[in-house]
Amino acid sequence: MSLRARINSPEETGSRGEDGHLVSSYRAKLLEEIDLAEMSALAAAERRARLERVLGHIISREGPVLSTAERSQLIRRVVDEALGLGILEPLLEDASITEIMVNGPDAIFVERGGRVEQLPLRFVSSDQLMQTIERIVSTVNRRVDESNPMVDARLPSGERVNVIIPPLSLTGPILTIRRFPRSFTLQELIGFGSLDEHMVFLLAGLVQAKFNIIVSGATGTGKTTLLNALSGLIPAHERIITIEDSAELQLQQSHVVRLESRPSNVEGKGQVTIRDLVRNSLRMRPDRIVVGEVRGGESLDMLQAMSTGHDGSLATVHANSAEDALTRLQTLASMSDVEVPFVALHDQINSAVEVIVQLTRFGDGARRITEIAMLDSHGSEPYRLATVARFDAQPMTHDGRVYGDFRYFPLPRRTADRLYMASQPIPQAFGVAEHLHQLTTREAR
Ligand SMILES: Nc1ncnc2c1ncn2[C@@H]1O[C@H](COP(=O)(O)OP(=O)(O)OP(=O)(O)O)[C@@H](O)[C@H]1O
Ligand SMILES: [Mg+2]
Repeated sequence: MSLRARINSPEETGSRGEDGHLVSSYRAKLLEEIDLAEMSALAAAERRARLERVLGHIISREGPVLSTAERSQLIRRVVDEALGLGILEPLLEDASITEIMVNGPDAIFVERGGRVEQLPLRFVSSDQLMQTIERIVSTVNRRVDESNPMVDARLPSGERVNVIIPPLSLTGPILTIRRFPRSFTLQELIGFGSLDEHMVFLLAGLVQAKFNIIVSGATGTGKTTLLNALSGLIPAHERIITIEDSAELQLQQSHVVRLESRPSNVEGKGQVTIRDLVRNSLRMRPDRIVVGEVRGGESLDMLQAMSTGHDGSLATVHANSAEDALTRLQTLASMSDVEVPFVALHDQINSAVEVIVQLTRFGDGARRITEIAMLDSHGSEPYRLATVARFDAQPMTHDGRVYGDFRYFPLPRRTADRLYMASQPIPQAFGVAEHLHQLTTREAR
């Protein structure tokens, strides 16, 4: 049976409670019969096969009359539970699932192909869900309990896990698992319609000419994915330092140093923040600094680095538009312990940030670059954003799809000159604005 069929097949052979009872009673019988020491010596796949065999014997010996499908389903569920993550096990195995969201024991949602759906699955009880959660967080030496009701962790396999439990959560223990994002090349992203050849041509020039680029978007819009693909355009001889909360970037170049921040341990000690890492990286002779996500005071250090010779830095920020991204960087920078007047931060951003790439997730699940904007203002001028590429969406069709076109606008003279000086071609589709009025600009505060 395919995984999908298995997930969607009705579990109701009897009431859900009885079904859960059947699973846990067989699980207990199975655990009685097996030799744990022998089990632990086996590889994961062998362990599963062995458990399935033993359980098959137990069911044949004393079990109820079951159809072949029911029998294999029962075996599967019991073994999944015995092996650890219970009903989550098959979901974690399913490569088409990118996110698993457990909202208490009764509601399990997944994201597939950009769309969220609820599955007809449930945990037997809140306790069983808590046990599963404890098993997950204990693999990374973390603890979740009343005094520690929120945990954010990355599993050794790369999945990112967030847990929040009552009393903070009002609907039972909540578990969110983000699958380790597959990395996509820019060509693959073109295939998804997230951007087109002309935009790749431009972005390649901007990365190679060492423009400072901020990738902006809301949660799950594909910021990390795009950052990874853009980082792939950095020339191989450059020394790249990547800084992340949970290491997701997968750069292919040979001279890459990967740094990952660290939360404090159970005693509340030993925290190393993104900010600490950004500061440290400046002493590591970087050619490029790539910051996974700017979400705190490191904004200031990064802006300072960008405007003082560490060109070509790349970072993402959580914002809904290009102007939002600027405001967000400014607000985050003001959260730093170094008190810099707000106006000075404004100047800093004007001299540090050069390109903003805005991502949007559409109703049909597609992720697209909706704008590439150049920050074309100086010093204390109001932020002036020049749109050079934009996605113009049409209203959603009745079957829920969103179509539209990418449009291109002239590059500011300054941008064209920088590209020229770095021996990067000026992409034909865009052209160059000789006068200010030829630019598609807007001001932002
Ligand atoms: N252009 C794209 N087309 C289709 N799927 C994409 C695209 N970009 C990213 N994805 C998928 O969307 C999910 C979220 O991507 P990603 O982690 O890059 O987003 P993010 O904006 O960095 O999220 P977060 O805000 O949580 O850090 C992943 O499963 C990823 O594979
Ligand atoms: Mg991300």
